[in-house]
Amino acid sequence: MKIAIGGKGGVGKTTLTALLAQTYAARGRDVLVVDSDPSPSLAGALAFPPDLVAQLHPIAEMDELIEERTGAKPGASGGFFTLNPRVDDLPDRFSISHEGVRLLEMGSVESGGAGCICPESAMLKTLFTHLLFRKDDVLLFDMYAGVEHLGRATVDFVDTMLVVVEPTRRSLATANQIKKLAEDIGLTRVWLVGNRIRNDEDVAFLERERGDLPLLGHLPDDPGVIEADRAGTSAFAVAPSLKQAVAEIADQLDQLVLEPL
Ligand SMILES: Nc1ncnc2c1ncn2[C@@H]1O[C@H](COP(=O)(O)OP(=O)(O)OP(=O)(O)O)[C@@H](O)[C@H]1O
Ligand SMILES: [Mg+2]
Repeated sequence: MKIAIGGKGGVGKTTLTALLAQTYAARGRDVLVVDSDPSPSLAGALAFPPDLVAQLHPIAEMDELIEERTGAKPGASGGFFTLNPRVDDLPDRFSISHEGVRLLEMGSVESGGAGCICPESAMLKTLFTHLLFRKDDVLLFDMYAGVEHLGRATVDFVDTMLVVVEPTRRSLATANQIKKLAEDIGLTRVWLVGNRIRNDEDVAFLERERGDLPLLGHLPDDPGVIEADRAGTSAFAVAPSLKQAVAEIADQLDQLVLEPL
């Protein structure tokens, strides 16, 4: 199961990614999460211990390594680069693991025009293949906000996209842009996940305005997200309503991957 999580800025992508990761990890699945934000926040949302985070090197820092292994400068979009660079030594150097969740950070990756982060993406893809070999392993890719980053290089390594929306027209407008781009590059499984839902009217609004984007589930608006941040813990640990809601979303996703593409 390889899932990208996108949406407008601040709608709850990182919150959903962390909750899903902890849910699957608690079920004994191997989970790999990738934080693609140049200003990373997933480690915090997952309550990774700070001393562990201090050891983490972002993928973007692998510049020399990327060049050495793929034969291309990072950010390059043209030319040739090796599609299967050697990566077996990389997981331990560029990822950290806590309570069943392994975390990678992209860092500030320069895109070589048209959103292409091709050498980095070849590297990541090989890394994923290396790290995720069991059928029930889970990859969650916390996308950078908005739509510009949605290049072929991104969707190459995912089969499903969750678009987080608040019950607002603005976040739905971004979701529709994302859906069009996703379709353009051949990604057909795109699902909405509502966030910060306060009442039945919020759900009804999303149902009414979602167009042809299916609504996979939704998370309540819960002060536990902010409380967890301040306490240095995760929403998963302190907010039972979020934990329950995300369990249902995880079940839905499990059902979904059983269906052929
Ligand atoms: N279900 C929720 N209940 C209450 N507050 C929430 C919820 N989800 C998110 N938030 C609030 O919204 C803020 C933004 O959430 P989050 O960082 O997950 O969004 P994001 O889409 O990853 O943002 P960015 O675009 O900056 O990466 C959180 O710090 C939190 O305060
Ligand atoms: Mg985020």
